[in-house]
Amino acid sequence: MNVLQWHPVCACDDIDEEDVREFEHEGKVYAVYHTPTGFYATAGFCTHETARLADGFVFGEIIECPMHMGRFDIPSGKAQGAPVCVHLVTHPVKTEGGRIFIGLEAA
Ligand code: FES
Repeated sequence: MNVLQWHPVCACDDIDEEDVREFEHEGKVYAVYHTPTGFYATAGFCTHETARLADGFVFGEIIECPMHMGRFDIPSGKAQGAPVCVHLVTHPVKTEGGRIFIGLEAA
């Protein structure tokens, strides 16, 4: 069984609603979102090419990739259609004491 470890990302106030911030941990890049329904986290790179999703645009629960405008549903990571067809990996998020934490499996 893989053990989940929680890592602090930033204060909840540091990400405006309908915005995204990048988080790096042990050489991996993640995208952490603030949507109208809460905070979420996914892999940091688009599954189409290598665009950083933190440079993309959040509207509602959708992230639009800055490179070719591929769209993903943030909570599920599901690709919404061409040019993206591979879903994003998602990661659990929790808030505690006004801070956001991302849950990552221990290496
Ligand atoms: Fe994201 Fe092409 S790199 S849609």
